[in-house]
Amino acid sequence: MPSYPKTIRIVDVSPRDGLQNIKKTISTAHKVELINRLQQAGVNTIEVASFVSPTWVPQMADAADVLSQLDLNSGTNFTVLTPNLKGFERALASGVKEIAVFSAASESFTKKNTNCSIDESLARIEDIMRSALENNIRVRGYVSCVLGCPYDGDISPDKVAFVTQSLVDMGCYEVSLGDTIGIGTPLKAKAMLERVLQEVNANQIGLHFHDTRGQALANLLACLEYGIASVDASVAGLGGCPYAKGASGNISTEDVVYMLHGMGIETGIDLDKLAQAGHFITKKIGVSNNSRIGHVLN
Ligand code: HMG
Ligand code: MG
Repeated sequence: MPSYPKTIRIVDVSPRDGLQNIKKTISTAHKVELINRLQQAGVNTIEVASFVSPTWVPQMADAADVLSQLDLNSGTNFTVLTPNLKGFERALASGVKEIAVFSAASESFTKKNTNCSIDESLARIEDIMRSALENNIRVRGYVSCVLGCPYDGDISPDKVAFVTQSLVDMGCYEVSLGDTIGIGTPLKAKAMLERVLQEVNANQIGLHFHDTRGQALANLLACLEYGIASVDASVAGLGGCPYAKGASGNISTEDVVYMLHGMGIETGIDLDKLAQAGHFITKKIGVSNNSRIGHVLN
């Protein structure tokens, strides 16, 4: 029998990954209400926005306004994505205590997403990290395209392991492995993870699977066997990176929580309230709810 963790931390990324690719401007008030509802459902880590270039991702232009309306001392861990020092400084001014930095295991995707090479992205992260350490800010890392890239095709697990280790060495307390375009299958996901775990520990890894081809829950289950206890997901299965051709939604938080609770794994989340949060945001922004459990509960 595989041995799964007793408790898993859910990082709900819907206010950032879930909304970043939606063309119609979503009001700050709706973003804030989504975050409040996630918080009330018991989600204790929420990626609430990104401080990226508003030209590149217009939907995130109101990140500072969103942050200004959250209670940053509530005990919930609010985190934001930052691509460079400028983004980090904006994040610092907003009062967050944690940020996320991102690189990828694919050169072409890194160029499309952040207009630089992988090495340059790591150098930018080093600058951020220096400032983050000085300011007592926790840093989480992402590696994108861990199971394939829309431009470069297959990605070597060695490259994923190298970028992951670089981020851990720089000081990321955890690195989230992103199947950005939802292209992986379970055995491929396991092989990639096994290679990464030759360099870093299971408690330094998170899983961030998009569900483009309906494989995310299967991939997640396969990887949880290795003792990974941190999972990214998005209510209503919203999500997708604007610079990854063909990317679609993240694994749905409702579906993940249903599966984990069914396996006796604790998350601290109230599934009914969570499903209501997914229902709320999809109705407000007029998109379909891609969570199976969300449909059952609504
Ligand atoms: P660039 O155009 O090369 O940037 O973009 P630049 O340094 O040349 O600056 C150009 C202008 O942008 C300047 O303004 C800067 O000040 C401004 P101007 O002088 O022209 O007026 N600027 C900024 N403004 C606000 N905030 C900033 C910022 N930085 C520069 N932080 C850059 C380079 C990295 C900025 C750009 O490519 C960018 O913002 N990329 C982010 C794209 C993005 O958000 N992608 C989605 C998130 S990643 C993801 O979804 C994957 C993930 O979910 C995991 C997975 O699924 O695999 C995490
Ligand atoms: Mg993503």
